[in-house]
Amino acid sequence: MAVGITALGSYAPERTLTNQHFEQLLDTTDEWIVARTGIEKRHIAAEDEFTSQVAIRAVENLIARSGQDALDGVDMVIVATSTPDALFPATASLVQAHFKLTAGTFDMLTACTGWVYALSVAHAYVQAGLCKKVLTIGAETLSRVIDWQDRSTAVLFGDGASAGIVEEVREGYGFRSWVLGADGEGAGNLHLGLTADKLPDGTSLSDKIQMNGREVFKFAVRVMNTATLQAVSQAGLEPGDISLFVPHQANARIIEAARERLGLPQERVVVTVNEYGNNSTASVGLALQHALDAGRIQDGDHLLLVAFGGGLTWGATVLTW
Ligand code: ACO
Repeated sequence: MAVGITALGSYAPERTLTNQHFEQLLDTTDEWIVARTGIEKRHIAAEDEFTSQVAIRAVENLIARSGQDALDGVDMVIVATSTPDALFPATASLVQAHFKLTAGTFDMLTACTGWVYALSVAHAYVQAGLCKKVLTIGAETLSRVIDWQDRSTAVLFGDGASAGIVEEVREGYGFRSWVLGADGEGAGNLHLGLTADKLPDGTSLSDKIQMNGREVFKFAVRVMNTATLQAVSQAGLEPGDISLFVPHQANARIIEAARERLGLPQERVVVTVNEYGNNSTASVGLALQHALDAGRIQDGDHLLLVAFGGGLTWGATVLTW
């Protein structure tokens, strides 16, 4: 059975913070941020806007684009997030209640790789006959877990959400390959605490994101290269067959390294990190939505999606649109 994405929606909060904002508060410059990351601004949720709300806005956007009946028959809701409103109820339950869906719900946590992992779970559920139509959401309010005094992380992240429906599609379309992985030994390089005060390796945890940027950078370049090439080859394709590369939007230099390795021209890569920063699980869906809106995706195109994040985790898929 062929399974793919049949509808998409996204949302970014109205309020933005430019690099100039950080120049006033931290020992940093617009030039440094743009040169090292490609980020020009990021969208930040309002004081009273939590992850369930940005998730709901992305689903409303999906309905606005695909029609009032877009959620008819949804039997599972998966929210991938590192910033749930609560540990329980799942943020997915809050979305389910809002839209009055008759569906199961759960949240997933694989940091920035979350939405790609959620798509793979949705694919497996539909293929196994456990579900017919899965609403997958990547939603974050990372602004609540950022140490605004830490220049090495504060400038990187933003808030937002994306939503996608996964269900059966016509033969020849949909997901063609999956590469999902993790390297728990690198866990200490990127973390956000909850109940423990340290990781088993002794790394101290806090309630704000802490990151060894240099190590995460090296990890990201490595896995973006290997996971993308594996996903393309498992799909029975060559890199040149990829019409559009839709990578996780963490850093323009990481994206550029992966593009070069794949040998793809710049016009086949989606870059939105300048506008949104890294909004974690929202980023791949939001980038995909941008590409669709810009008319960059045609029927039958082979798309390559890839993400990486805390864990450390990674995930890549090739799908025919
Ligand atoms: N402004 C000015 N200087 C800065 C800033 C800043 N905002 N941030 C760090 N610096 C300084 C550092 O302190 C360091 O100074 P030092 O040499 O005196 O120690 C210097 O710049 C160079 O630091 P590096 O870490 O080597 O800089 P690098 O070029 O690696 O860029 C960055 C840092 C942007 C964080 C990069 O390492 C990166 O993007 N890493 C990957 C991060 C990432 O993708 N994270 C998302 C993971 S997804 C998830 O699950 C959350």
